[in-house]
Amino acid sequence: MKEWYAAVLWMFCWSRFLETEGAKMRDLLGRTVDYMRISITDRCNLRCRYCMPDGIALRPMSEILTFSEMVRVVRQAAELGICKLKITGGEPLVRKGCAELIGKLKNISGIEQVTMTTNGILLKENLEGLLAAGLDAVNISLDTLSEEKFEWITGFRKLDTVLSAIDGALEAGLKVKINTVLQPGINEEEWEGLILLARDKRLDVRFIEMMPIGCGRKYPGLSNKELFEMIKERYGNVERDDRIHGNGPAVYVQIPGFAGSIGFISAIHGRFCGSCNRIRMTAAGDIKPCLCYQDSLSVRKAARDKNDSEVREIIRRAVLMKPEKHCFEENKNVTELRKMVEIGG
Ligand code: 5AD
Ligand code: SF4
Repeated sequence: MKEWYAAVLWMFCWSRFLETEGAKMRDLLGRTVDYMRISITDRCNLRCRYCMPDGIALRPMSEILTFSEMVRVVRQAAELGICKLKITGGEPLVRKGCAELIGKLKNISGIEQVTMTTNGILLKENLEGLLAAGLDAVNISLDTLSEEKFEWITGFRKLDTVLSAIDGALEAGLKVKINTVLQPGINEEEWEGLILLARDKRLDVRFIEMMPIGCGRKYPGLSNKELFEMIKERYGNVERDDRIHGNGPAVYVQIPGFAGSIGFISAIHGRFCGSCNRIRMTAAGDIKPCLCYQDSLSVRKAARDKNDSEVREIIRRAVLMKPEKHCFEENKNVTELRKMVEIGG
């Protein structure tokens, strides 16, 4: 009788624990991993020099996961505790059916938030579908407000398309963040104009330090420390803004009178690995524990075989492989050789 009572009590407590805690994945350092970035294609409609210059080799489509394979992987990931997703590329909107995929991902039990990183070129025409699918927020990449520089960096004269996509997304009520990579001698002074977007519009502008991944290895970036000093010099009174703005490692500041905040993703000069909460899946189905290193586990075969328990096992193992920290500041120790378009940043 006593054992029976103890068993019922244990089951009650366990079910309460699951209800309140849900499933959670922790890595070997105790970091909770609940965020997955998914590159849905390595194709892109721009040719940014530091990301996807002309002539770069792409994966054959047969190696890229189908959308139903991606949904299968995410279903398993959600069972393990992944609740936030970022859809990336290449450029996610060049893959037909992106909005439908997002709708399916949003419907998976346990998935609370799906956001997307895009270059904005196809955003306007896809906006309605994305909103209907339940997209929660969008990050739009923009490195310059000069049409000439835009063309130099991306290979196309499409600045106006991106600017009008930003306004369209804001008008539709989407949360918008601008992602900017500054390069000395190319667009370093562009911060002055770009941060004004956050003064005039309800959006955040974030500066991402160039990471030595893919073609980015060849290009020096601007340090966010230097940038912060320049912003302070110009605006004086900038205050750290600790309201939560996303799932990532960005540190935000608020400039008095600005509608939005300014964020700094200091991959090189700021270490944020202690609070890393993420894994990545490449378009080809490699689960990456860390952006910096080549190590990954492929989930493709298990997903193609519809072997869900194996999919879960691979995700769990990838989480346990998470290293303590990246080594972007020591370029030669960066082992990742895949391109950014395949990984999704
Ligand atoms: N370092 C930092 N950011 C990069 N991006 C592409 N390559 C790099 C790199 N090496 C960014 C783009 C875009 C997003 C897709 O990733 O600027 O914002
Ligand atoms: Fe395409 Fe973005 Fe890479 Fe530019 S940075 S080539 S827009 S994926």
